[in-house]
Amino acid sequence: MSEYEKVIELHQELEKVDNKKIQNAKHQKAPATEKEYIEAKKIIKLKPEKVKNSMDIIQLLKRRESVRTYTKNAVSFSALSNILHYSRGIKSYRSNAYNLQNYPVLYSPSAGGLQPLDIYVYVSSVEGIEAGLYYYKPSQDSLVQLYEGRPELDLAQIYLSDFPQYAPVNLIITGNIRRFHWKYDNRGYRLLNVDCGILAENISLLAVAENLGSCMLAAYINEKVEEKLQLAETEIPLLCMSVGGFYE
Ligand SMILES: Cc1cc2nc3c(=O)[nH]c(=O)nc-3n(C[C@H](O)[C@H](O)[C@H](O)COP(=O)(O)O)c2cc1C
Repeated sequence: MSEYEKVIELHQELEKVDNKKIQNAKHQKAPATEKEYIEAKKIIKLKPEKVKNSMDIIQLLKRRESVRTYTKNAVSFSALSNILHYSRGIKSYRSNAYNLQNYPVLYSPSAGGLQPLDIYVYVSSVEGIEAGLYYYKPSQDSLVQLYEGRPELDLAQIYLSDFPQYAPVNLIITGNIRRFHWKYDNRGYRLLNVDCGILAENISLLAVAENLGSCMLAAYINEKVEEKLQLAETEIPLLCMSVGGFYE
């Protein structure tokens, strides 16, 4: 079998889906759209504000580029708040979706509205909050502190490049298999990655709107991310993003 045939076979395996299950999903109760049980050292409420920059969408798209060299400036708490809130944050609630009274709807679209993505936040330098590892909890629009301390050692082990260690913020996007598989079977894996691309681009544009630069990173060691973030078996690392001030 050629390498291409192997990929086609893998693709067919991943496309397997039970269409009846998709049709009936609206009567099912969806799993929680975020991590429910976390041992929090501290919970910090985000403060999303009106974005000060007045760039229109064309300007944002023109200015977006991958930034790999960051200034020493700390990221402001409002900038981090805006980036998280207006990407993975909750925009509104829908009544009677998936048999639930108040089903969250996010700023970023998600296949079937299932919201299988989570964002972990490594803070090296953000005004007003301690360095450490956090989990963004959309229902509380808060950062849940998982540990306090310099994250550089973790970052050095996770990444295959050096530059993210010098970024004030590193975001790690993970996907939760439980949240898509009950409806989309294996095909949910592709949809998960589509969701991830949308979220990552929204984060990139929000960073530009805050006068920050970012770079998406696939060059990380899967097992190290799983270990450092203590991911459950059903959570998979999908994409990392470094964020920080840039030299004009
Ligand atoms: C899914 C994805 C993964 C990427 N992974 C990396 C990476 O590991 N390291 C890196 O330096 N850039 C990475 N990039 C950035 C690309 O190299 C970059 O987007 C591309 O060269 C185009 O440049 P631009 O973003 O400045 O327009 C990634 C981009 C995407 C979309």
